[in-house]
Amino acid sequence: MSFVSVDVLLKEAQRGRYAVGAFNCNNMEIVQAIVRAAEEEKSPVIMQASQGAIKYAGIGFIVAMAREAAANATVPVALHLDHGTSFAQVMQCLRNGFSGVMIDGSKLPLEENIALTRQVIAAASPMGVSVEAELGKIGGTEDDITVSEQEAMYTDPGEAKHFVEQTGVGSLAIAIGTAHGQYKGEPKLDFDRLKKIAGLVNIPIVLHGSSGVPSEAIQEAIGLGVHKVNIDTNIREAFVAAARKILDADAREIDPRKVLGPAREAAVAIIREKIRIFGSSGKA
Ligand code: G3H
Ligand code: 13P
Ligand code: ZN
Repeated sequence: MSFVSVDVLLKEAQRGRYAVGAFNCNNMEIVQAIVRAAEEEKSPVIMQASQGAIKYAGIGFIVAMAREAAANATVPVALHLDHGTSFAQVMQCLRNGFSGVMIDGSKLPLEENIALTRQVIAAASPMGVSVEAELGKIGGTEDDITVSEQEAMYTDPGEAKHFVEQTGVGSLAIAIGTAHGQYKGEPKLDFDRLKKIAGLVNIPIVLHGSSGVPSEAIQEAIGLGVHKVNIDTNIREAFVAAARKILDADAREIDPRKVLGPAREAAVAIIREKIRIFGSSGKA
């Protein structure tokens, strides 16, 4: 059993003008929740593993859990590396059957980001695996920076065109005002910038830091060329809140299944809600 290619899912989404949700997984319950939500919505889905997830669970466990969930799924399921840090890590994911990889060279100078991305594409494309890169810096909500400092990190449209031409990358993560983690206020997205970038590159655009972004803003971004939407924080919030509710109600509860089962249900509910917002329900 192999995972469905991220590239294929995103090309279909681009044709159909919707986005595929890319949901971060760290444990068995969240892996199951992602696939169950996608099945209930009859939607394609991308499961992704971050650096933190690989460190926490180990790549072997992530792949084994994802494979088991995908093998029995009635919808297309992809497994993607989120914010890959090095060529070596990408190679490890390719060996383990990932069907999409991200190489995040966004902290590097432009030409070094291009060189690293090209190196990764040269290794991944003969295996039929497409590559997501990042241009501009998507920070964290905890980063204490001013609006103008944040805007300085936004993706430059001209650079995006140059980057895509020089690399031939499959999809591109851009910085237009979103951030990872919980927002303090309401994020404001730079739609003009997105429109300019989408007009210059003909590949699916990826929106990171999408938890907590109002659904209308997500849908506007999808209409302008975003076809992969990353969600982690909203799943964490729902999962932990449900577990906390059980423990708060009965401090003597010691059965992990009674704590993690409802947490898994809460994760299914929030993932289903996101899938509907992204417009991929019924597209499997
Ligand atoms: O890219 C950001 C994700 O929310 C991953 O975070 O490395 O703590 O799993 P993490
Ligand atoms: P959130 O923290 O907004 O869920 O973003 C997740 C993400 O972008 C993973 O790459
Ligand atoms: Zn991200």
